[in-house]
Amino acid sequence: MLSDTLISKFDDVIARYPLKRSAIVPLLLFAQDEIGHISDEAIEEIARRVEVLPIEVIEDIGYYSMLHRQPIGKFNLQVCTNVSCQLLGGEEILEHCSKRLGIGHKQTTADGLFSLEEVECLGACCGAPAMQVNYDFYENLTPERVDRLIEDLKARAEK
Ligand code: FES
Repeated sequence: MLSDTLISKFDDVIARYPLKRSAIVPLLLFAQDEIGHISDEAIEEIARRVEVLPIEVIEDIGYYSMLHRQPIGKFNLQVCTNVSCQLLGGEEILEHCSKRLGIGHKQTTADGLFSLEEVECLGACCGAPAMQVNYDFYENLTPERVDRLIEDLKARAEK
């Protein structure tokens, strides 16, 4: 059951677009933020509200790597290994995250706290190697900075 808050956000967003279907991606992001992934129910509801078939919503989800049909961790670590980041240690950062968390690409820790993904360019090449955690960017990463970040995120989750 989608919350009243989420339904209200859907209404607000749809009203801002001259073409209802243009709101699909923002609606999906709001749904994912609340539910932790994009559920079948959310797909049905979004399709109904923007007047498209559910398969059209599913196609959009397939196109955008930041949209997830399966539950992901509270903190989704997206490590860039594209050219700029690769040259400055992006693959080592990914490997460090993997060892530190005990998970690989597109996996989630058993406690549901962290997910890890190897991603393409985040548009933060000037701060390579870079990583995105949910909507926040972290740049000029080193293994030590990653360790501190993971500890900070754990502490944030306990509050
Ligand atoms: S190559 Fe990593 S942010 Fe652009």
